[in-house]
This record gives sequence, C-alpha cells and structure tokens, in this order.
Amino acid sequence: MFVDTHCHLYSEYYDDLERIKNNAFANGITKVINNGCDQKSNTEVLKLIRENDYMYGAIGIHPENVHEYTQADLDFVEQNLTKAKVVAIGEIGLDYHYEKTSKEEQKKLFEYQLALAEKYHMPVVIHSREATQDTIDILKKYQLKGVIHSFSGSLEVAKIYIKMGYLLGVNGVITFKNSNIKDVYKEIPLENIILETDSPYLMPHPYRGEKNEPKYIKNIAEFVANLKGISLEELAKITNQNIAKLFKM
Ligand code: NI
Repeated sequence: MFVDTHCHLYSEYYDDLERIKNNAFANGITKVINNGCDQKSNTEVLKLIRENDYMYGAIGIHPENVHEYTQADLDFVEQNLTKAKVVAIGEIGLDYHYEKTSKEEQKKLFEYQLALAEKYHMPVVIHSREATQDTIDILKKYQLKGVIHSFSGSLEVAKIYIKMGYLLGVNGVITFKNSNIKDVYKEIPLENIILETDSPYLMPHPYRGEKNEPKYIKNIAEFVANLKGISLEELAKITNQNIAKLFKM
C-alpha cells in the first residue's frame, strides 16, 4: 500500500534485513528505494535489489564522501545505471553543514552526476543541506526530474522546487515537536509530496532517537493524512501516483 522512497538498508546499519522486510510488509509497506552513498553501499544496494523483490535501488556518491570517492566509483555508478531495478541516481547533492570547506569539490561531484542523469534519462534523489541557493542554481542548468529528499525548507523554496518539476520527500521530521515544517507541508499540494523514512535516521515521534526502519512510513503517513484531513487510503493513492510518475517500479 505504501512505498518507502528513501532509506539506507545495508550492512553499515543493519544485520537483520529479513526482519526489517517482514516488519515493513506487516505494516503495509510493500516497496522501498534503497539509496547508496558510496562505493561500498552502492555495491551492496545492487546485490540486495537482485535478491529482494520488494527493493529498488538508487546509486550515487553522497556529498559527505567528497574527499573519498574516486573516478572509478563514478564509472561504477554509470556502468550500473541501466541495471534492472535501479530507478534513480542518488543520494547526491550538496551539504554545507558537515562539509563547509569543500563547496567547489561538492559542486563538481554533484554536476558530474546530474550530467549522468541527463545522459541516461534517470531521475535524481537530491540531498541539500544549508545549500539551498546553490542547489537551485545548479539544478536549473539540467533538464531533470527528481525528489528533494528530506525537504524541510520554507514554502517559498518549496514552490521553486515544485515549479522546476521536483517532488518533495517528507519524513519523520514532520512529526518532531520542535519542527515547524508541518506548517509548510500543510500548504503544499499532495500531488507534490512522496513519503520516506531516511532509515536508519530521523525516527518519527514518539520513538525519536531510536533506529528507524521502513515500517515507520505508517507513522509518517498517519501524521500527513491527519494534517491534510484525508484518509490513509487517499494518501496512499495520491503518493503512489506521484511515485509512478517519477520512478519506474
Ligand atoms: Ni538519505
């Protein structure tokens, strides 16, 4: 019924993926998009999506790995983009929170992967932290579709991304007591939203701080349905239509 459009299910975080899958199914989450971030996780994602029907993959080099990646890692991403069940390039983007001194290197890495997305007609999964203006300026140079993962900006910025054709990924942050992002999402049409957990991070309230997993899409969905005054069924229908327009899965 629901899809977790953004999670990180690999050995760096989990040694019990069978249990994670069963928990997801038991809570009505029937598909997930597993996002790689570096050579190791991209390799694992490719293996896991072959072995698990419910799992799809996004592969890419995350900006936090700007100092570690090699050209061979980017070539590996390119070589595997056309493999079955690889649905996007991600997680890619700009992070000026953890990586303040490498802005130019990050932009170079980001643009290299956006060019790949354009070349192979793939959607992109975008990570943007404290880098909104640069993200917008760079994305405007490319003709792409994608999702702004973990979007938590202003309504004004949301409207810019929507106008550019991007979807916004909403996750457990919307449930946090100290977050005002629900006020923004209240104003954003459902046609522009998809649901994600970002597991193992961003566990929803009231479990905040624990390790997240795809089954908690249910908690996020309940929160969003309540915020929008619609049923879970209606939310599933609309968000699944949004996903179908963006990802081949
Ligand atoms: Ni992520």
